[in-house]
Amino acid sequence: MKPYERLALTGRVALITGGGTGIGKETARLMAARGADLMLAGRRIEPLEQTAEQIIAETGRKVLIRPTNVTIPEEAQALVADTAAAFDRLDILVNNAGKGTHRPLRTMDPGIWDKDLRLNLNAAFYCAQAAYPYLKNSGKGAIVNISSLAGVNGTLGVGAYSAAKAGLHQFTRVAAGEWGPKGIRVNSVAPGMIGTELAKANWTKTGYDAMTASKGFPLRRYGESYELAEVIAFLASDAASYVTGELFVVGGGPQIKGMIDTDEG
Ligand SMILES: NC(=O)c1ccc[n+]([C@@H]2O[C@H](COP(=O)([O-])OP(=O)(O)OC[C@H]3O[C@@H](n4cnc5c(N)ncnc54)[C@H](OP(=O)(O)O)[C@@H]3O)[C@@H](O)[C@H]2O)c1
Repeated sequence: MKPYERLALTGRVALITGGGTGIGKETARLMAARGADLMLAGRRIEPLEQTAEQIIAETGRKVLIRPTNVTIPEEAQALVADTAAAFDRLDILVNNAGKGTHRPLRTMDPGIWDKDLRLNLNAAFYCAQAAYPYLKNSGKGAIVNISSLAGVNGTLGVGAYSAAKAGLHQFTRVAAGEWGPKGIRVNSVAPGMIGTELAKANWTKTGYDAMTASKGFPLRRYGESYELAEVIAFLASDAASYVTGELFVVGGGPQIKGMIDTDEG
């Protein structure tokens, strides 16, 4: 293999949960552009159909879709089994479906706590466990779990989400340790503030000034979905063949704080 070919995903099959929108959609577009065939899953069929159509037009790859609620173990397991059956293999799993509920801990209903944990932590386990035999057969199996900076620092107002994403980091490490000997790499990516289509629409609706809010970050801006996709696709590829059990924060450096402003000169 030539060095510049290591990012290629030719011949690989990737299952991306939440693949119809945002970070999942941009990851799907990039992986297909690098040669992968795809299964995209989410609850709503419309975004999946639109994204699949766009990617087929852009790349000519095989892109299947499957409406699925990944928080239901049987649905997650059926999604994985159907993907492997449709393509006769599965090489890459991106556990990207996720969302947090805004609620202070004092008034958080236990049902909301459970719901956030099921989506942001349990679903990754359901899909990964079901994918294990296929990823083992792949010989180049890779799982990328999409976490959040909230799981690193903790974010006020999204306690269940923060706890679930932090749990996802330790699930990543244990899976990497247990499945590494079988040739499966497992990593997580923690996005910071990302201007997905949905996020931007929400900012406009609520009047949230994301540009000003991100002025305190070393890179002085929020991120875009494609910037996450680059890291996710790298981790799924042979270019990351010796990387496992790691957490990659992609956030423009907001966790770097100091007492002085060095933005002069
Ligand atoms: N954008 C950010 O600033 C940011 C920051 C940190 C972390 N993240 C993480 O990045 C990941 C992607 O988020 P995004 O920003 O791209 O938001 P998004 O566009 O809302 O993507 C979330 C996706 O998950 C799917 N989904 C939600 N619940 C599901 C369920 N029960 N079963 C199956 N699919 C489900 C959604 O589709 P349906 O609604 O059709 O099911 C949607 O396609 C998430 O894990 C999120 O926590 C994002």
